[in-house]
Amino acid sequence: MKAPTISPLQAELINLHPALVDMRRMVCDGLRKKPRQLPAWLLYDTEGSRLFEQICEQPEYSLSRTETALLGKQAAAIATALESGVIVEFGAGSARKVGPLLRSLRPAAYIAIDISSEHLQESTNALQRQFPEVPILGICCDHSQLDALPDHPLLRGQRRIGFFPGSSLGNFEAKEAIVLLRNFRKLLNGGPLLLGLDHPKPKERMVAAYNDAAGVSAAFAHNLLHRLNHELEGDFDLDQFTYRASWQAEQSRVVMELVSKCKQLITVAGRQWLFTAGESLITEYSIKYLPEAALALIAEAGWDGVQRWHDPANEFSIHLLKPSNCTAKPKAATNEPSRATSQNQARA
Ligand SMILES: C[S@@+](CC[C@H](N)C(=O)[O-])C[C@H]1O[C@@H](n2cnc3c(N)ncnc32)[C@H](O)[C@@H]1O
Repeated sequence: MKAPTISPLQAELINLHPALVDMRRMVCDGLRKKPRQLPAWLLYDTEGSRLFEQICEQPEYSLSRTETALLGKQAAAIATALESGVIVEFGAGSARKVGPLLRSLRPAAYIAIDISSEHLQESTNALQRQFPEVPILGICCDHSQLDALPDHPLLRGQRRIGFFPGSSLGNFEAKEAIVLLRNFRKLLNGGPLLLGLDHPKPKERMVAAYNDAAGVSAAFAHNLLHRLNHELEGDFDLDQFTYRASWQAEQSRVVMELVSKCKQLITVAGRQWLFTAGESLITEYSIKYLPEAALALIAEAGWDGVQRWHDPANEFSIHLLKPSNCTAKPKAATNEPSRATSQNQARA
């Protein structure tokens, strides 16, 4: 008799990816800016997500390894502080960082939000096979434009715990970051948010991290042009743009851009765009936050930083945030050093 085939576990996926017409509008808005700048989420199609995974393996890019190790080491303490509920991860990517939390916290469900639909499906399927006991749902959408989480049985009546790792908040300029964190507060409906943020480091390290010797970061940026050619009828010649990453100390950020090698007329999204020689197209920012600066921004967005974990070298922080009206003493927005509890091995 033929053995029954066991179908692999599949995670459910809700696809709310922006429509092509909205992408076209966003690209036109971005190309009209001075300097030209596109939303960072456009970097993440299936190939972009694959390249990002490779970036995380580059020796120069320590961010991912540091945060993963920190989460692994502090998972039990973080889980205790977060309490029970459903974990909602924003920009889940490979969804590998949440593993220790799933083990320690045993949430009622795990919801992975990401803009890159195929990659999200693969990541959530892999995680579902690893954690068959945890109900998993993927939601493909732009989380900066999300008004509400879908009315889904896994979310109904559950306390929500937000998880935003990868220092992805740094892709948003300060004003946008505040809007995003306010929106997360609304989406989480009174629940806490666990936020991973990278600290500034010496300029040489920052630049090398975002322009690795193997050229993966450059390929990641060039893939954006390939995507625009493919999805929005563009005619970018990838060889006519050079990738550059630079550190702007005053703004505490790495700027990633594609610089036009010559004067050239580009057609994309149904319009023509004249690039001058040396003109830049910003693909992404990565703003780096010292804990005090992070807590000032966080407070402006209506959150209190109540606890912080960091790696032994203090290069990366994981902040536990609670909505400010839910904690005993709401803090005003300030640039003064925070009194939030800092944890590495012990409370400060
Ligand atoms: C820097 S990667 C971090 C991935 C993962 N969280 C980690 O820490 O390794 C950013 C992730 O967020 C997703 N992303 C970027 N912008 C997004 C947006 N506006 N809405 C939803 N997902 C977004 C990307 O597809 C990507 O997987």
